[in-house]
Amino acid sequence: MTEHNPLFYQSRKQLPFIEKTEGIYMTDSAGKKYIDGSSGAIICNIGYGNKKVIQRINEQAEKTFFAYRTHFENRPALDLANRLVEKLSWGLNKVFYVSGGSEAVETALKICRQYYCSIGERGRHLFVSRKPSYHGCTLGALGITSYAPLEEPFKPMVKNNPRIPAPFCYRCAFDMEYPQCGVKCATVLEDAIEANGPENIAAFVAEPVGGASTAATVPPDEYFSIIRKICDKYGIMLILDEVMTAFGRTGRFFGYEHFGAKADIIALSKGMASGYFPLGAAVTTEKIVDAILDAGGFQHGHTYAGNPMACAVGEAVFDTIEERNLVENSAKVGTYLKEGLKRLQTSHRIIGDVRGKGLLLGIELVADRETKTPFDPGQNANFTLADHAYENGLILYPRRSINGVRGDHLLVAPPLITTKEEADIILDRLDTALERTEKTLF
Ligand SMILES: Cc1ncc(COP(=O)(O)O)c(C=O)c1O
Repeated sequence: MTEHNPLFYQSRKQLPFIEKTEGIYMTDSAGKKYIDGSSGAIICNIGYGNKKVIQRINEQAEKTFFAYRTHFENRPALDLANRLVEKLSWGLNKVFYVSGGSEAVETALKICRQYYCSIGERGRHLFVSRKPSYHGCTLGALGITSYAPLEEPFKPMVKNNPRIPAPFCYRCAFDMEYPQCGVKCATVLEDAIEANGPENIAAFVAEPVGGASTAATVPPDEYFSIIRKICDKYGIMLILDEVMTAFGRTGRFFGYEHFGAKADIIALSKGMASGYFPLGAAVTTEKIVDAILDAGGFQHGHTYAGNPMACAVGEAVFDTIEERNLVENSAKVGTYLKEGLKRLQTSHRIIGDVRGKGLLLGIELVADRETKTPFDPGQNANFTLADHAYENGLILYPRRSINGVRGDHLLVAPPLITTKEEADIILDRLDTALERTEKTLF
């Protein structure tokens, strides 16, 4: 008789126990060693077992793990906020801490809504987002997420916000070609605003580079400048969800730097504490915060927010990113790994597309490369490849690009400490897994 397991997650899949982690490697209790080719859920940017973080945790533990934010200010929270603000541009200088990505997104939505309430524009309650997209699994964040399997059971409970097609040149929603398309995926924001009544719109929400829902889709260079102009024309905010892209993941400290996109609020988490502690933040401008505070205060907050230990970890992660030049390494090794993935594409017919920036890379699997025909979802091509890779000691992150329903893809996003030599091992293991997958699928 098997032992009762009181834990449950998304499925009944049995997984090995983790024993030890170091660098980009994870070892299970049977002694098998894996390369973490997805940094967990694209979170562990600085890799595992970082001595600086461990030392900082020990030091902070001697002082305090917790002090409630309405009773005490704490030094790590203030110091980390100062460092963040220094890195951010155009007046994003007010930090509100949370403990994860969904909370950061919820907080951004609420900051935006409360700002408009406080300046007398109470009609603004709709958030235009993109299809597909992933902004989190809590009900507010789900209301701007577009990924059918995650949305379906909760549709009656979730606000029906407007969506526009995500920039996705490989599978253009308008069946057009860049640049003749005139970046229609950006200009349609104006149509969505007009269709829903400009006085009802609060913000447009987007990831700078696509994450789990599209596997690292990169928008055209001018995408965000068109978006910003439309936001300004209608007096709405641009909220950037940098939960996955910030802290060096795309080869710049923040993803928006690739596009010069000027946000009114950004949501952060994941790489901020790199998996060593739950941490996130929404960052906005003084003007927005002043309006909210002058009108009576921000009606939002979570118990663990601004936790001294989480913020101390955030500082040590920040130090590590800077001292080890991890943003530059992400750009350099990312380019190298992407070239390698393109080489694999030439020898494996199931790779339809290779995309991404820095160490946020994606491969999309197709049944027919010429016609870009996706696999039948029943074949589970993405999980088949992820399982073969796992067997072969490589962890990848499988999802689907056509609103979560079809278009199998995998994120290839190892920690930012990955070397070119380690990238070669990743490519080698992936090559073998692709071979086995092709034999399984055809
Ligand atoms: C872009 C983006 N936003 C929000 C979230 C939600 O973050 P969390 O899982 O920490 O709630 C994620 C998680 O993958 C994400 O990738």
